[in-house]
This record gives sequence, structure tokens and C-alpha cells, in this order.
Amino acid sequence: MIVTIDGPAGAGKSTVARLLAERLQFNFLDTGAMYRAVTWAALEGGLDLTDGERLSEMATRIELRIDAGRVSVDGVDVSEAIRTPEITSKIKFIADPPAVRSVLVDLQRRFVGDRNFVTEGRDQGTVAFPHAECKVFLTATSETRARRRWNQLPAENRPQLSAILQQQEERDQRDREREVGRLVAADDARQFPTDGLSLEQVVDRLVEWVGERQ
Ligand code: C5P
Repeated sequence: MIVTIDGPAGAGKSTVARLLAERLQFNFLDTGAMYRAVTWAALEGGLDLTDGERLSEMATRIELRIDAGRVSVDGVDVSEAIRTPEITSKIKFIADPPAVRSVLVDLQRRFVGDRNFVTEGRDQGTVAFPHAECKVFLTATSETRARRRWNQLPAENRPQLSAILQQQEERDQRDREREVGRLVAADDARQFPTDGLSLEQVVDRLVEWVGERQ
């Protein structure tokens, strides 16, 4: 069985998907980490970020591994390096070109195979796994999402909440407007607003819902 969790930045997808996978004893795939890792590889290799063809060729060539929460590119552990603001600001160059997305969607399908998986991203229920049995579109208001992100940052170098809100809006807009793999709920996805719910409550409700569908 495949459970897809899509939604905007800061909706809590990664944490919810990871905990849900643990509770269901499913595998877990964070596809945002794949886009981040390819962005890292492109910057590391000094590639022209506007050359979609070169970027997709590079994405095919690198050895991208995601194992037990660690991410590596050609044997280099990039788990922390892919979470920097610099990577986040450059991801659009990797996430926009349809040719690069196609390489990563193929890789996602190969990772998952016919095993039980919770996958998380923007296009999991629409493009990567349109036949998934359980599709969730996790949402929260912009304010809630920005505040969650702000709370996760170390107190000593927290930017203004308004700055986080603005970056988040820009990223969501870009994610919603891209040509292929845009951020949109699949027609058969369950819309799941998380405002006012604790992490445990969200996961409990999803475990129950997936259980009913199993
Ligand atoms: O989820 P995360 O914030 O790590 O994702 C980083 C970026 O990667 C997103 O803003 C989005 O642009 C891109 N992404 C995507 N498709 C996915 C997962 C992530 O385009 N399936």
C-alpha cells in the first residue's frame, strides 16, 4: 500500500509522514530531500542552474541514496548540508524543469517498488503515485505554518516571523505555478487541515483513516 502526503511548505508533512510510517510499520520517503540533494550536487559541481538539460543529465548520473533518514550523493553524506537557506533558495532551478522532475519521479517509483510506503512531497498523489490507495493533502494557514517553522529555528538566529512568511509565500507560489508536478491536491486526496491539532492528534487521525482503508 502507498500513502502519499502532499501539501505546502511548513504544513508538517515530513514529521507527520515519518511518524505515520513508523506507526504503520511502512517505509518512508522524503522526496523534498531528493530535490535538495540534486540542488546540492548542482552547486557543488558548479553547473549552470538555468541549463535544465545538463541538470537532468547530472541527476541521472549521481548516486542518490536515502537510508534511515540520511541522504548521500555519490557517497558524501549531505543530510545537514541540504537544509541550508542557500539550498532552499536555489531548489526552484531543480524543481521547475520537467526533465529533472521526470528523473526524480522515476527514482521515487523505483525506491518504492511494490512495498508499503508513506511518501511525502508536492506531486506524490498527482504525478508520482496516481494509483496510491491513500492520498492526503496536509494544510494549515500560512500564519500557522510560518510560526511552526520559526519555532523550530534556534533562538539565537531567528529571522523575523514576517521574513519567514514572505519566503514561504514565494516558495508556495512557485510550487503552485510550475508547469509539471505543481502543488495541487489530487482529486481523490483527503484534505486535512492541521490548525489547532497537535502532531500526535494529526498522526492518530491518519493512522485511523489508513487503517479503515486497509
Ligand atoms: O519538502 P521540502 O521543503 O524539503 O521541499 C523542498 C522543495 O522541493 C519544495 O519547495 C519544492 O519546490 C520541491 N519539491 C518538489 N516536489 C516534491 C518535493 C519537493 O517540487 N515532490
